[in-house]
Formats: sequence, C-alpha cells, structure tokens
Amino acid sequence: MIQLIRGFKDILPGEVELWQFIENQTTSLFENFGFKDIRIPIMERTELFSRSIGEETDIVEKEMYTFPDRKGDLITLRPEATASIVRSYIQHRMYATDPVQKLYTIGPMFRRERPQKGRYRQFYQIDAEVFGVSSPLMDAQIMFMLMTLFTRLSVTDCTAKINSLGCPDCRPAFTVGLSQLLSAKADSLCEDCSRRSARNPLRVLDCKVPACKAAMADAPSILDFLCPDCRSHFDSVMRHLTLLGVSFELDKRLVRGLDYYTRTAFEIQTTLLGAQSAIAGGGRYDSLVKALGGPDIPAIGFAIGVDRLAEIAAQSHPDLTRKPKVFIAALGEISLTLAFEWVSKLAAAGIHAEMDMAGRSLKSQMKQADRLGAGHVLISGDAELEKGQVLLRNMATKEQVPVPVKDLVEEMRNRFA
Ligand code: HAM
Repeated sequence: MIQLIRGFKDILPGEVELWQFIENQTTSLFENFGFKDIRIPIMERTELFSRSIGEETDIVEKEMYTFPDRKGDLITLRPEATASIVRSYIQHRMYATDPVQKLYTIGPMFRRERPQKGRYRQFYQIDAEVFGVSSPLMDAQIMFMLMTLFTRLSVTDCTAKINSLGCPDCRPAFTVGLSQLLSAKADSLCEDCSRRSARNPLRVLDCKVPACKAAMADAPSILDFLCPDCRSHFDSVMRHLTLLGVSFELDKRLVRGLDYYTRTAFEIQTTLLGAQSAIAGGGRYDSLVKALGGPDIPAIGFAIGVDRLAEIAAQSHPDLTRKPKVFIAALGEISLTLAFEWVSKLAAAGIHAEMDMAGRSLKSQMKQADRLGAGHVLISGDAELEKGQVLLRNMATKEQVPVPVKDLVEEMRNRFA
C-alpha cells in the first residue's frame, strides 16, 4: 500500500471542521480590519525565496523543496507566503493606486524540517501583510487583531513576545559587538551556531542548545543599540499595545528565522506544544519591497501556524462535525421513492437530510440515524402514508408527532431552516 510522504498529513473529516471554523473566524475578523484575500501560487522561482528570506537562513540553506522544472529553471515549493505577496504587490503595481494594501492568504507551505509533533513538511499558514504604513500604530493593531483571533478561538494559553531588530543604520553596531563575543565563545557553541556565527550572528541569540544559551547569557541587548527613531518607534508600539489591552513580554533574544525583518519582531508562544512553542510570528520588513525591485515602501505582517493552532483549539472545540437535521427512514418501495425525493429537495433547500438507499430494516435505519447524530427521524411506512402522514421523531426526547405528507419539504423548512 502506498503511504503518504513523511512529514505530510491528511486532514480528515472530524478534524477538518475545526480547520473550517478557524478559517471562517479568520476571514470575518481580518475583513473587519480591512484585509483582502489574495491567492498566490504554490511554486515560485527559487531566487525569490533565497533573496528575501536570506541565503544564510536555515530555510534557504537546507529546508526548501527546490527542483529544476523540465526546462531546467529552478523552482521552489513556497516555504512561506510573505515573499510571494511582496512579489505580487510589486508585479501588479498595487502601490500605484494606493500604496496602503492589507492582504491575507491561507494555504499550505513546505519546509523539509525534521518532522515531530507540531512540525510538518507540509504545514498551513494564515498569513497577513500590510504595505505602505510605517506608523507603529499598525504594528500594535495587527498584533491586537492576531490576539483577538486567538481569544475568539478560546486559545488563551499563549504569550506575545516582542523585540526590535533595529534598522540598517543601527543594527550593524550591534552585530559587530555580537560577532566579537561569538569569536571569544567559539569553543562553546554548537555546530550550527559555529557556522552561523560568521554569517548570521543574530541567529545564535535564539539557539535552544543549553551550551549556546549559556554562552549568550551576557550577550548585549539589541535594544541598547537602537537609534533614536527605532527606539521611539518601538516605545510607541508598546504604548499602543498597552492601550489596546494586549499583554506582551519584551524578549531581547527574539530574532526570528528569516532575514528580512527590521524594527518590530514578534512571536506568539505557547507551552502546550512541547518544543514547537511558536504558533505565530511576524514583524516589520521595511526594506524588502525595495530590495525585490519595488519602490521604497514599508511593510509588516505575520503568519500563524494553522496545524499548531488547530491542535490547541481542539481542546476547547471537541466536536464540530455537522450532523443531519433529519434522517428519513423509509419502509417499502413507495416510501423509498418519496424519501429519495424529500432528501434531495431538503438538501437543495438548505436542510441537511440523509436516508438509507439500500432498503434496510427500520431497526438498522434507526441505528444509522443515531450513528450520524441526526436530530430528528422522519419515519415513513406504508401504514402512515395511507393516512397521508409520516411520523417525526425527536431523537433527544423520543417524542413522535404526525406530520402531513402534503407540502412536507415546506413543513420541514419551517421547522429546521
Ligand atoms: P515563521 O516564523 O517562519 O514566519 O512561521 C510562522 C509560523 O508558521 C510559525 O510560528 C509556526 O507556527 C508555523 N510553522 C513554521 N514552520 C512550521 C512547520 N514546519 N510545521 C508546522 N508549523 C510551522 C514566517 O513564515 C513569516 N513569513 C511570517 C511573516 C509574515 N512575517 C512577516 N509577514
């Protein structure tokens, strides 16, 4: 038997209802904040990701699904959505009508990481991006939107961590100081960090390996290096988060795994998922639109890991599967034909109805109705039909009432729609 690929998974009925619920909540909330849906391709030219996420990140170095297409062009299954949305924003000159654009998308991403609980090779993100607003008010507002979504989904065991990564003016001074510390501690760093320390020193700051954590204990804080503009921007983000009642923790070690960030960076973390503690992450990337060939337009965004969010939300939403409003139990040839007509018309009229098409016994049809969780069963047998009626049984109270066959669909619609 052919099995699915390691790190990939099916989202089955029973589980998928929660995903739909999350998606519906997201869509309605984000649209209230003025975001518009955008659908971007699953594959892009490899160069788009290497140039935006950064050649020296784990994602680009070792996690991308990259292959030559039949003509030899290198293409990559998207590991995230930001780069593609930026490309689309530039390519369609969205800034020409209005530089301010708020966009969101929901879909699968691909990273060849080591699979474990909460970490998959195909995973899903809810991604939101805002272009053309440099004000710290936007940083606070999108974090508020994100936390509001979590509250609506009853996901409360989570903490927002924030940091500022400065800008091209103030960050280099910090990176130089950090690099000096890293060369002094070279012997105590893990293999990954020894490699990172020369090329991407910031990443060493959030390494989870205990030896690296210890080596970084007295590392300087990037916040002490911020230029006055970055400092006041960050202070304003925090003030406005407080004003909106969003609680957060300052985390001077938070650096994120993608290179495009400037200024505000944040992550929402939970203790409920073991090692994979981040359920969402994001931040500003004021230089990326220009770096990818567009005008000099600031931007900010975030992505939520839907697989992780669903795992947590499942604890407060145990069963969202849709149950039929009515099951029609038919006995005899005439009843079966009538049931067939009623079920079809009820479904078309917006009422979920089910029946048994195999002509089984009443007992087994009642069992089937029970298994499906039907709220009511319409029992249609020859004896009832002769009186021009069927019996409507409430499965919870076991109460049965006769219902006239004439205008049955209309009658059911009045009761259940
Ligand atoms: P990211 O931190 O790489 O950011 O991913 C965002 C979220 O996606 C993570 O917090 C996590 O919940 C989920 N995630 C990442 N990798 C996996 C995986 N292998 N399995 C399951 N879930 C995963 C970004 O992708 C940025 N594009 C966010 C952003 C948008 N920044 C600005 N705009």
